Formats: sequence, C-alpha cells, structure tokens
Amino acid sequence: MTKSKFKGKKILVTSALPYANGSLHCGHLVEYIQVDIFVRFLRLIEEDVLFVCADDTHGAPIEIKSAELGISPEELISKVYDEHVKDFKDFLISFDNYYTTNSPENKHYSDLIFERLNKNGFIYTKDIEVTYCEHCKRTLPDRYVKGKCPKCKAPDQYGDVCENCNAAYKTIDLIDPYCAICKNKPIRKTSKHYFFKLSNFSKKLESWLKKNKNLQPEIKNFVFNWIKNGLEDWNISRDGPYFGFKIPGEENKYYYVWLDAPIGYIASTDNYCKKHGLKTEDYWNSKDSRIYHFIGKDIIYFHFLFWPAMLLGSGFQLPYNISVHGFLTVNGEKMSKSKGTFFTAREFLQKHNAEHLRFYYASLLSKTISDIDLNFDDFRKKINNELAANIGNFCYRVLNFLNKYFDGEIKDIDNNKKLTSEIKKLTRNIEKNYYGLNFNEAVKGILHISSLGNKYFQENEPWKLIEKDKEKVHKILGLCANIVKNLSILIEPILPDFSSKLQQQLNLTNLKWEDIKFELKNHKIGKDEILIKKMEEKEEAKQEFPLNLKVARIIDIKDHPNAEKLYILDIDLGTEKRQLVAGLKGYYSADELKNKKIIVVTNLKYAKLRGIESQGMLLAGDDGISVGVLTVEKSNPGDKVYFEGFENSNKELGFDEFLKITMVVKNSKIYYNNSELKTNKEIVKVERVKDGAKVR
Ligand code: MSP
Ligand code: ZN
Repeated sequence: MTKSKFKGKKILVTSALPYANGSLHCGHLVEYIQVDIFVRFLRLIEEDVLFVCADDTHGAPIEIKSAELGISPEELISKVYDEHVKDFKDFLISFDNYYTTNSPENKHYSDLIFERLNKNGFIYTKDIEVTYCEHCKRTLPDRYVKGKCPKCKAPDQYGDVCENCNAAYKTIDLIDPYCAICKNKPIRKTSKHYFFKLSNFSKKLESWLKKNKNLQPEIKNFVFNWIKNGLEDWNISRDGPYFGFKIPGEENKYYYVWLDAPIGYIASTDNYCKKHGLKTEDYWNSKDSRIYHFIGKDIIYFHFLFWPAMLLGSGFQLPYNISVHGFLTVNGEKMSKSKGTFFTAREFLQKHNAEHLRFYYASLLSKTISDIDLNFDDFRKKINNELAANIGNFCYRVLNFLNKYFDGEIKDIDNNKKLTSEIKKLTRNIEKNYYGLNFNEAVKGILHISSLGNKYFQENEPWKLIEKDKEKVHKILGLCANIVKNLSILIEPILPDFSSKLQQQLNLTNLKWEDIKFELKNHKIGKDEILIKKMEEKEEAKQEFPLNLKVARIIDIKDHPNAEKLYILDIDLGTEKRQLVAGLKGYYSADELKNKKIIVVTNLKYAKLRGIESQGMLLAGDDGISVGVLTVEKSNPGDKVYFEGFENSNKELGFDEFLKITMVVKNSKIYYNNSELKTNKEIVKVERVKDGAKVR
C-alpha cells in the first residue's frame, strides 16, 4: 500500500548535539522528541534511515566549570554523558548512535576538514586584540568578560551583546571591563588567530539555498539577508587553556568548539559505520544519500552558513534538508528558574509520564518555526480528553468486549466500505503529515480515526445487539479490532511504548506501516488491560497562591447600623452561608447587588467592622474613581476561583498579609503574576473599572 518517498536512498538524520555542560531540559526535548518521531516513522515505513547524535563536549564553559568543580573536563563530560544517555532512554529517543565530540573519529575529521580548507586557501591567520585576565592566566571568551555597554552604558553586560539595549559589540569595546571569574580588570593582548574565509562562499551558499526546495522559506529569507549584508570571515581558533582539539602545529591554540561540533555529525556516523560494516562515504559523499539536520532557531547561522561552507570547501556533500523548530515557552513565557517554570528532563519525569510529553509536543509540532507552549492545564486536557478518553478508551473497550463475549477470538470483519475507505483516506493523510513534519495534523488524523471507531462501536450498541444477533456483533468487533490494530501502528512513532503494549494485547508484534489494512481475521487476542490512565489534577506543578477564592451569590443586603458606607451581605457559598461587611454603598444599590455572583476570599481571619462580624471579603476593583465587583455568570456558588498555574491556599490569612498581594485589572480581567483569574467554566470579569485598577 505504501511507497518509500526516498526511494531506497540512505537517509542520515541528526539532531543538534546538546552541550555537555548541563542537564537536558524540557526545551531540548522539543527537538529530540520531534526528530525521534520522524525517525521512528521512517523506520516503520521501512526507509533506510540512520539517526545519529552526540554530546557537544568542547569549549571554554566546560573547561571553566570542571576547574570550578576540581575535576578534569574528561570527568565532567563523562558524567554528563551518562546522564544525557539515561534521559534520552527514558524519553524513548531511539538514536542509532549517541557519541561524543571528544573522540578520535572527531579529531580525525576535524583535522581532515581543517587541512583541506587550508590547502584550498580558505584559511588565513591574523593578529587580533583579545581580552586577557592576568590573574586567571587566560584569554577571556565573550561570556566571561563583563562591563558597561559601550552604547547605553548599562552595567554588568556580557562581552558580546547588551541585554539592556541589544547592541552587539566586541569584548574589547566594553567600558570598565572585568573578568567574570575573578572580577579583576583584564588587559588587552595581541594574539594570532585562524580565520575561515566565509565571505568566499556567498555565491555558492546563495545558489544552494535557492536550489534547495526542502528548506523552510522563512529561514531562507533570513539567510539571504545575512548574505546580502555581507558575510564576515570567521575566527575558528581559541587560545588555551581550552578544552578541545589542538590545531596541528600549534602549542596553545585550539579549534573553536563550533568548528568541531558539527563535524561531530560525521564522526558519530563514522563510529556507527565502523561497528556495523557500513561506509561513512555512503552517507557523506554519495548521490544516493540524504542528510537531514534538525536544529532550533538559535543556531541557524552556524548550520546555514558556516557548516555548509565548511562542507563545500572540503569536498563533502551538502545537507538535503535542515529543519528548524521554534522554542519552548512555559505558560506563554520563556522558561525561568525563578518563576518555577524551568524543568529538567529528570524533574519532568518525576511527576509525569514521558509518553504524555511526546503526545503533547506531537500535537503542537508543525513544520514552522513558531514557538510551542507547555501549559499544564492544556497538557492535562490533551492527555485526558484525547489520549485517554478517545484512543485509550476505544482500544480498551474493543479488546475487553472481544475477550468478554468471544473468548478473544476475531473471526470475520463487518463489511463497512464507507468506514474503511474513510479510514484509508485519513491514513494517507497521516502518512503525508509524518513525512512533512506536520505532526499536529497527524495527531488530528489519528484522533479522527479513533473517534470514528468509537462512534461506530457506540452506534451499533453491541451490548444490546448481542442478544439478537451475536454473529453480526462478532463481525462488528472484528472491524473494531482491525481499527485498534491500525491505530497501534499509526501512533507508534509518537507513543512507541503504548503501541508495543497494545500490540502485545492484540497478540501481534512488530507491525509495519504496510500492515495498516483490514485483513486481521481468525486470530486470538491476548489479555486486555487499561493502558492510559487519566492525569489527576494534583499532578500538575502548581505554585501556591495565598488566598482561597470561591464563587458566592449575594442573597440579602442590609444597611450597616453604625456606618454610612457599609452594607451587610448574606452570601451563599454552595456548602455554607456567611455574612460579609462590604464598603459598596455609594457605588452599588441593594437591587444591583441582589443575586449577583461575586468572588469571595474565604480564608481571611474574621474581623469586626464597626461592631459587625465580616466572615471573609468580596473582591472588587478600584481605579480611584469607580469601584466594581468581580463577577461570574456561568459558575455556581462554591466553585473554585483561581489563577492559572496556582493552587489556592487553605491557611488562614491576616488582613495585613492580604494587602501585600498585588492583583491588577487589564481588559476587565484580573491578573496575578501574569496569570488570569478564572473558574473551571469561565474567566472572571470586573465591572466598571479601568485598566490598572487595584483589586481589593
Ligand atoms: N551544542 C550546540 C549545538 C551543536 S550542533 C553541531 C547547542 N546545544 S544546546 O544544548 O544548547 O541545544 C541543543 C538543541 O536544543 C538546539 O537545537 C537548541 O535549539 C535546542 N534547544 C535548546 N533550548 C531550547 C528550547 N527552550 N526550546 C526548543 N529547543 C531548544 O546549541
Ligand atoms: Zn580572572
């Protein structure tokens, strides 16, 4: 039924090499999950694919960090290597080879490429001024010199760009520079460096970009612009101490990490080929291969300019495609340690399931460079409503029914052309979307098939029909079981574990894409079991919010006997009634308040106001001119009111502590730390006040 898109060509897929100076986090996983889904799909459809990667181990940060830790760089990178490998395994990332750039193969290819570039006249040396710390006895890389921005004079800026005004400059231009390691003032020094003539390749790079139909157009435009504005030659050497490969014939000079890092793609391929009786040239120097890189949008320059120019200049083949993805945000913002929105791969696994993240990312990933957002509310909804309630539920009810009523036996298949041809059509689309990296669309297609299955099962009411026509029900279940089997294949690239367990229940193994059809008959399945459980709400990573907020309805309004501006309100909180004292007189009439659904702080210490007890406090906005209460329409008394990502607290709170909490109004909505106030049914609105109003 399926034909190879790559027509038997050897496909080499790479993901960017993660730095060996730290843990993998959920942002990295966007890339490794994306590439893994693609590769698993290619294997499933029986393309000839090889997936390689490695740790990126060289550079100043690794050398400096290991010195700080009092261990050798080799010890540091080997520890990190083990950690990375374990993380990748637990997220089911199926590299054929995961290597390191600190390897003999990488040294070999780095020297080979350097020497070829040199022989071909693309490398020259030049004296440049560098920043040197006499105390640390080292040349300081950009990130290790700080000082005042030469443009806007902001203090404590890095040596390459100003985070305040975004100006880019050279380390030596910083005002009052200091060494980021020891804080001493560095000196300037002259040092000989090796340069790669990137400017020589402008024409060739431009024509490669123009001819290559696979590259994303928006990226091409970026790169065309860079070329148009003129490419500068590239400094490919660094002074020692440095962790990396020494430049041949030099005593204290090393290849810059970005020279040998991408060469790591070749080295990892080579390492694999040696172990498996294959030839590296068949991937890197052959008309019959396709090199497919995946990277994030922060490293476009290196992969679209430096890397292809290096390949061109040293006689290697250019990539067939370089697919660029966007960045991960958490709750709509850049990940941040201080906001508690930075999760390492390991931290994520301690609370959640790896396949859930794979499914979530897949449902958002497409062939664009838009960022994708990890929102835990959304995450839980997707897992519960799509994965568990749709796919998981369909598979389980079918296998369970078969076992219960037919002893697990599939006999014949109901002949329902309309349903099977619709599923076949959806399958062709899913295939196209896997090839085209539009996994979000593939997920939609899979969910669609599973919904069709659920609907077909439901509408036939087999639990009733079985009384009248057992044979017909058996056929219906036969067709359902075929849909389950097809789903197990369709979803395998995204959920390999789920797929293999499901196939085990079906008493089948190792199905391929071509097994997606309706021919499974006279077959006995195995034991059924629920494979996907719903996520509990408390599984989410939530921060505590000091207030406990609930919806209440105002039942009765009386005037306060001793205060002109105060009302006494009787409110219904669903499970209890309370009395509040509120300063709304002059702003609201009793009629306007009657039956209004408001938001009440329920964990405030009870207080007497002019002799009358207030058992809580209603929330209102105040912009200095008007006062307006917070209200809801669809929610009911007692419903939880909360800020997205925060958990209400049950601890009793004093009024002074309450005053320290800042909630503000924007577009009639209420925000706390950029997060919106809501109930499970709607967003809370405030009446009558302007943006910027304080909420009390
Ligand atoms: N070592 C270099 C790559 C060398 S490739 C020859 C590097 N390493 S990295 O660890 O910083 O990033 C590895 C990959 O993860 C990159 O493609 C990068 O874009 C991606 N991501 C890192 N943080 C990310 C997010 N927050 N979101 C999505 N992808 C991110 O760059
Ligand atoms: Zn220093």
